[in-house]
Amino acid sequence: MKALSSMAKLTFSLVCFILVAPWMASAAIVNHNFTIGTQNVTRLCNTQTIVTVNGQFPGPTIEVQEGDNLVVEVTNSGPYNVTIHWHGVKQLKSCWADGPSYITQCPITPGNKFTYNFTITGQEGTLWWHAHITYLRATVHGALVIKPRTGNDYPFPKPAAEFPIILGEWWNANVEDVIADALARGTVPNDSDAYTINSQPGDFFPCSTNDTIRLLVETGKSYLLRIVNAGMVRGSFFKIAQHNMTVVAMDAVYIKPYTTDVLLINPGNTMDVLITADQQSNRYYFGTRVYFSQPLASAFLNTSATAILEYKDNTNKSTPLLPNFPDFNDTSTAVNFTTSLRGLNSSVPQTVDEEMLITEGLGLVTCTDNSCADNNGVRPVGSFNNISFVYPDIAILQAYYNNISGVFTRDFPSNPPQAFNYTGNVPLGLWSPELGTKVKVLKFNSTVQIVLQNTQIVSFISHPIHLHGHDFYLVGQGFGNYNSQTDPANFNLVNPQMLNTVAVPTGGWAAIRFVANNPGVWLAHCHFESHSSLGFDMVFLTENGPGSSDILPPPPSDLPTC
Ligand code: C2O
Repeated sequence: MKALSSMAKLTFSLVCFILVAPWMASAAIVNHNFTIGTQNVTRLCNTQTIVTVNGQFPGPTIEVQEGDNLVVEVTNSGPYNVTIHWHGVKQLKSCWADGPSYITQCPITPGNKFTYNFTITGQEGTLWWHAHITYLRATVHGALVIKPRTGNDYPFPKPAAEFPIILGEWWNANVEDVIADALARGTVPNDSDAYTINSQPGDFFPCSTNDTIRLLVETGKSYLLRIVNAGMVRGSFFKIAQHNMTVVAMDAVYIKPYTTDVLLINPGNTMDVLITADQQSNRYYFGTRVYFSQPLASAFLNTSATAILEYKDNTNKSTPLLPNFPDFNDTSTAVNFTTSLRGLNSSVPQTVDEEMLITEGLGLVTCTDNSCADNNGVRPVGSFNNISFVYPDIAILQAYYNNISGVFTRDFPSNPPQAFNYTGNVPLGLWSPELGTKVKVLKFNSTVQIVLQNTQIVSFISHPIHLHGHDFYLVGQGFGNYNSQTDPANFNLVNPQMLNTVAVPTGGWAAIRFVANNPGVWLAHCHFESHSSLGFDMVFLTENGPGSSDILPPPPSDLPTC
């Protein structure tokens, strides 16, 4: 009997060894099915029919290991057109799977399906997925967790547990009506009714207390928070009462660990944050406070979403302590945080082939019909280099791949069409961009530097600019107008952060560098969905390279057409 059991043990350990031995580790295929549908959800005592994935809100967390091939069959059983974007995934030579509607694919229409199939290489940490059409990402989103491949470890001590924390927003309205109504009236979309954490607003909102998110922790242990800002229109400060946080990764790139008591997370960014339960056994609030660098004249939602960090053996049921949040417009706390982060082992391009200066911000255009009678005959727009993007009727990638003309032009300017004092008092004559569907063509493997220059048109706002299909180095940032003579001397070409979304400082600029090594069509846009809906978008087209492996493969056969 004894012999038999040690034999069994030996066999068991041998099997385990074979299954997990590092030299055996190979990438796996990870399959998921997403069914898009609708369901009734109640928040703030208000019931809405919302669009969800697999009936979950937030949607399912997908977990893969670095190197895995992720295959997600998306079935649209809902009433709206939909696409899914894998935010931050580099999609090397799989541009067709990127997901932005009318850029890389036509929407999956109700009753139809499309299978996203791509490999995740060279990225570890937290990313996310979301709908990339109209306002659906308000409810169609979830975390994408990328663990080290078998045999590799985190570059920090293994946490006792990991928690996805998804920051979002809730409307007491159908979000598709919110955006359609704004576009029809020529206004910015109405603000949400609450900020949320894992879809719950927390104790300070009506009908919410019973569902407030609670994280249970044990004294002395460390935990990893995988924070995703899925918010639609605002950045967020994030704090935990009486606890410090150590940021170890951002946008699925490890960074030099940075310990702080406050984070700033913008829509589009993700952060991996270690916390230790090293305070008195008790209950502590954690949560967000909106960061809005310069509000427009209208009122905005200036509140906090909260959740509770609770020590397991805690017996004190009194009201948890609230963190002391920064003010909504505390730009110095915001900038102090973002300028304190540093990358690890970076290989920043030291020289540049393609240099661009791109202004970014809001504007106003005159309506040609009476759709903006409510707004004095003008409507708000967003623009890059004075071009407000007009979405085409068929996907740009399809048009490019099949040589269909008349869908886009290749004349996106590398510099503002007219130089002006971008952050000064901009004359009204410069407030109205041109409308167009222009792309910027990049040579394969060229090193690109872009200075994103915020303009003081309508308002100074720190806009989170997201680039699809690439991570970029954030080599510099500053306030005021970028000076091409003096500012490059202060660039960090040693250990800058690598990101997929950069919040350009309010009334300032940010300089980024990347290598255009990924053939295809790549959207860049303000990750405030309200702004992206107003044409705050642009497109890069990276040409194929000379080698047979530098070419974008053909589209999958089930790619939806328009
Ligand atoms: Cu997170 Cu273009 O998107």
